[in-house]
Amino acid sequence: MPGPYLISTSILSADFSRLGEQIGEAEAAGADWIHVDVMDGHFVPNLTMGPFIVEACRSITTLPLDVHLMVEKPDHLLELFAKAGATRLSVQVEACPNLHRTLQNIREVGCHAGVVLNPGSPAVWVEPVLHLVDLVLVMSVNPGASGQTFLPEVLPKVTEVRRMLDRINPQAMIEIDGGITPSTLPAALKAGVQVFVTASAVFKNPAGIAAGLRTLRACFPKDS
Ligand code: DX5
Ligand code: ZN
Repeated sequence: MPGPYLISTSILSADFSRLGEQIGEAEAAGADWIHVDVMDGHFVPNLTMGPFIVEACRSITTLPLDVHLMVEKPDHLLELFAKAGATRLSVQVEACPNLHRTLQNIREVGCHAGVVLNPGSPAVWVEPVLHLVDLVLVMSVNPGASGQTFLPEVLPKVTEVRRMLDRINPQAMIEIDGGITPSTLPAALKAGVQVFVTASAVFKNPAGIAAGLRTLRACFPKDS
């Protein structure tokens, strides 16, 4: 699957004292999805956002809300996030002993289902569930914080997952998350990514949110 290519702007690097304004600015500048990084203090050390923030985002934007659950026990949270207005719910393969059931539950609560692979997790871990997903998210940093350095060694895994999807579920997309900038995006695109998560390259861009999105989008092929 080549394009269309999409940008999912992660609010983890936004100014939380002006969250509504910053999301509005990203939407006006052409962000495709809003990425919400949920951390539980167990799966990753930090604590971030929950369903209340998703609900607040839902009330101020019509963009799809791409919720990344970096939590140890996602199952009991799925319905809460769905009710809060999440469009997509992605769970970490490392946190889901009953992954098949968890992905079915995501669809049952009315969301698109995603599965996430950490840099140290192999593609083969998601192969048995690829028929149940709308998206595979390949982490290009170890989860837990924005502003980390892109790990290029995950790119062969992107290509491997894309090949598996082409065989099993060609409509499903590959998303990449961590360290995406105008310098790292082209290699990820070449490896087979369709959706690019980006926090600091947009919300911490010294030239502003719109300029950040513009420089990232300039990396996409002209006809996409
Ligand atoms: C990392 C999060 C990412 C993060 C990306 O744990 O999953 O979504 O916000 O941040 P950048 O784009 O700054 O690497
Ligand atoms: Zn994320």
